Amino acid sequence: MRRPLPQTGAAWPTLQAEMADYATGDVRWRDGKTAVYVFNAGRDVEQVQKEAYALFQSENGLGPAAFPSLKRMEEEVVGFGLGLLHGPDEASGVITSGGTDSITMAVKAARDFARKSRSVTGPLNLVLPRSAHPAFDKACALMEIEVRRTPLTAGYLADPAAMGAAADAATIMIVGSAPNFPYGLIDPIEALSDLALARDLWLHVDACVGGYIAPFVRMNGGDIPPFDFELPGVRSISADLHKYGYCAKGASTVFFRSAELQKYMTFDFRDWPGGRMVTPTLAGTRPGGAISAAWAVMNFLGVEGYRAKHALVTQARETIAAGVEALGFRVLGGPQLGILAFTRDDADCMALWAKLRERGWFTGVTTEPKSLHLMLSPVHAQVADEYIADVKWALGGVGAGAAKVEPRYS
Ligand SMILES: Cc1ncc(COP(=O)(O)O)c(C=O)c1O
Repeated sequence: MRRPLPQTGAAWPTLQAEMADYATGDVRWRDGKTAVYVFNAGRDVEQVQKEAYALFQSENGLGPAAFPSLKRMEEEVVGFGLGLLHGPDEASGVITSGGTDSITMAVKAARDFARKSRSVTGPLNLVLPRSAHPAFDKACALMEIEVRRTPLTAGYLADPAAMGAAADAATIMIVGSAPNFPYGLIDPIEALSDLALARDLWLHVDACVGGYIAPFVRMNGGDIPPFDFELPGVRSISADLHKYGYCAKGASTVFFRSAELQKYMTFDFRDWPGGRMVTPTLAGTRPGGAISAAWAVMNFLGVEGYRAKHALVTQARETIAAGVEALGFRVLGGPQLGILAFTRDDADCMALWAKLRERGWFTGVTTEPKSLHLMLSPVHAQVADEYIADVKWALGGVGAGAAKVEPRYS
């Protein structure tokens, strides 16, 4: 039943109560039992996000001349990101609305670059490992680019040889993830960089998940392999502020090795009666709040704050990995950041996923092989032992004859 717009307005307290009522069916992510969709760095960060967002919620990043404040904050955030990701002096970037936006715009830049720098007349293609995010497929669907997904190695990583074999003169981009979403593993970006240099290919690193955690895990002593502009074959990187940057939703960054390359992303149009319109990203209007909240959270946490938050993520991951291994599960590959997936050949992981929901856990799944999947936040360090105990409980409740369940979490 379609509900009509109310004839008269309601008082804000009434609406607040109604919204709280709507939310009663939502996952209770603040209690730490959600390990997908939300990055929970604690109440203090949440407050900074909220208040900084509200301060600039009506301002529009589309108009840097009108809002030099936002321009300045965006430039500083981009500078923070480039500093973390070994951006050379000539590197540049922008804030976008999210990972999908960053990826789409990087693909657009690579496509326009290929069109200009190569004499390809036929269909274009993009080569990526099977584990890469579907945002690339969406971008390619929009731009009518063929997607060539290549098989993974036995360790669930991108296979540079397979990707090299799939690439040809019409390849606009090759992709590596740092890390990929299904397994939380960092692809062999160094080998992909070598491939890119040898064949003059555009290598994009999808660090949507890892861009704002991997540098800090490395500072904390983690043995993180090179994955960013440190590698000369990397031409662009996507890194989401609204994931492990702990910023408010609607904020990602896309970076280019040089401002020259970034020019291929920008849309600059004047052939209409409304005057010149220059948009760096897919959006027209760009919410000022997403930019101001990102600026505020990054300055609120600083290097020390991020290191401390990410140390808790590492602690949660290590505790859960050891706990589920003790229960007979196998962790897929060697995850080093905030995502891990684990399976047990003799258990129906999809039924386990459903069973764990009975105890309030809302997590992800990986389908190849069928596994439980967690994207961890600092808050999970507090509930890791409870999760392991509940996995043990769920194992006892899911017999061989349990109904087959198809998880739906999107
Ligand atoms: C590796 C990776 N890339 C890209 C994306 C897309 O990001 P967004 O949902 O912000 O569009 C995700 C989302 O989870 C991701 O995990």
